[in-house]
Amino acid sequence: MSRQGGMGGEFLPWLIPGFAALNVVIFVPLWLGGTLAALLSGYGWQPPPFTLDAYISLVSGNTGKIWPGMPSYLVYGGAVALVLLGISPAALLVRRVVRRLREPRSLARPSELSAMMGKGIEARARDLRPALKDVAQLSPDDTGNLLGDLMPAGPELRSSYEDVELDLMAPRAGKSTGIAIPRVLRAPGPVLLTSNKSDVFTVTRQERMKVGRVWTFDPQGIAYTEREMWWDMLSGCDTIEGARRLAGHFVSSVNDDSSKKDFWIAAAQNTLTALFLAASRSGSSVNELLAWLADPADRTPVDLLRDVGMTAMADQLQGTVRGAVETRDGIYETARQCVACLLDPEILAWVSPDPDLPEFIPDQHVLGRDTLYLLSKDGGGSAAGVIAGLADAIIRAGVVAAERMGGRLDPPMTAILDEAANVCRISDLPDLYSHLGSRGISVVTLLQSYRQGVRVWGEPGMDALWSAATIKLLGAGLDDADFVDKVARLVGQHDVRTPTYSRSKDGSSRSVSYRQEQVLPADKIRALPKGTALLLATGVRPALIRLRPWYKEANAAAISAAAKAEVQAITDRAAASWSRRESRRVG
Ligand SMILES: Nc1ncnc2c1ncn2[C@@H]1O[C@H](COP(=O)(O)OP(=O)(O)OP(=O)(O)O)[C@@H](O)[C@H]1O
Ligand SMILES: [Mg+2]
Repeated sequence: MSRQGGMGGEFLPWLIPGFAALNVVIFVPLWLGGTLAALLSGYGWQPPPFTLDAYISLVSGNTGKIWPGMPSYLVYGGAVALVLLGISPAALLVRRVVRRLREPRSLARPSELSAMMGKGIEARARDLRPALKDVAQLSPDDTGNLLGDLMPAGPELRSSYEDVELDLMAPRAGKSTGIAIPRVLRAPGPVLLTSNKSDVFTVTRQERMKVGRVWTFDPQGIAYTEREMWWDMLSGCDTIEGARRLAGHFVSSVNDDSSKKDFWIAAAQNTLTALFLAASRSGSSVNELLAWLADPADRTPVDLLRDVGMTAMADQLQGTVRGAVETRDGIYETARQCVACLLDPEILAWVSPDPDLPEFIPDQHVLGRDTLYLLSKDGGGSAAGVIAGLADAIIRAGVVAAERMGGRLDPPMTAILDEAANVCRISDLPDLYSHLGSRGISVVTLLQSYRQGVRVWGEPGMDALWSAATIKLLGAGLDDADFVDKVARLVGQHDVRTPTYSRSKDGSSRSVSYRQEQVLPADKIRALPKGTALLLATGVRPALIRLRPWYKEANAAAISAAAKAEVQAITDRAAASWSRRESRRVG
């Protein structure tokens, strides 16, 4: 597309209207500012006529001709005040327009995201949650999970209660403050939260106590909480499937890539499965199970399995026990490493029956509005296997309850797997993702990077998790070049219009060309500011959102005060624990 003609000739027609506009821009503030100043300073309402004479008087300083007796500085002061008053809203408007123009085109517009806001998300909630049918006015948190505000100026976006979410953000990018804490505070039903820190616990505990019972499973003293509950770890192991799942959680806690199991790991999982099954079916304790593991020649579990009719399982275990001593010992040693955390009596106590304390029962938890905090350290000696086992038990209890309730849990359960790769390695999480949404279990997995997920679930597993997540939030600090490139490709390309001017002896010409450019190039994705995230939702174009950290919300002051009290209580408990240890050491 091109247009020929001299450059000067091109602009000539604009010269006269431009000059006229300039005069209007000067005349209007002087005219209006002077008139208002005259009125306010007691010279009355005397608007001058729109004449050339009046204009010349105003710009030449001869204002006394229009408003006799009134000092000129009042006229010009009025005009300046008027301009200043008008400038701020105008500047705001210009800023908005510039921002809008700078926004990468080909990101989703508010109209495309209507299903995630206002009436759209409300209608979806009414479809998914029969209990809301007769409620005339829904609270926004009953309609869906708050994701954040669409950039640059809103509105707020929510995911529905059948969405399952995967969020990737670097450390300190706002996973806990911008996602985990607001979700716990706003959850309409039961909550399950895993973490390796006490931050979410301290901010949300008091608020959650207002709506239901709060359970804290803290076997490693992350929040220095006294043990006020126990969970029967073996209760779900009365089937081969249940026993195998629990064995899998312990194996995953020591095996970095769950998709790759060497002989020893696979054999240890088989042996643990048989032992968990034997203990559960016979009513034996975890302590007895540890004793069987310590002594591979002990025939008790084989006999117990036979007694309960699990003959094939008993034969298999017997085969392992009777095998070559080196092989048998290798398998048992690997199995012992997997459950090594249970050797710590402090951890063991949380998963062993205690008649003096209430038992945590996953089947009941999923039906109320209670909250369970699952806290564990990461790294060696962590209780990650137990944490994953309990998280999995709750999720499965949720699925079973949903089946009893006609398909979906209502109110939906919120499961937030913060630091999932460190403390909650549920090996088949990618498979669970594909059906948890349809059961009313709103699960969010928070990871620091895609690679971190690959280390736990392997490339195919992480790929499956990524594909199954219907909502993906990618936040600040994603530094993996391959992954960021992949996301940039997913976000797509758009046409960029480039005008070009050229001059020759025949005059000048202007042409416009179009080229394809990435909507969000990799470097922009890498440099996303803290507190913002790229939203990839199924079925709509990507969007940029601003997270809503709890400390910027209206109720932050009250929550912050409660959080401070909670932090103080943890500090006191930590100090008391330290003194007890010191006095033991000295004594
Ligand atoms: N009450 C608060 N007021 C203001 N800023 C805060 C508050 N609490 C945390 N922050 C800041 O918010 C940012 C995000 O912290 P957050 O704990 O959410 O990160 P994260 O992604 O969960 O990190 P990690 O992976 O280390 O857990 C940090 O820079 C932190 O200092
Ligand atoms: Mg965090």
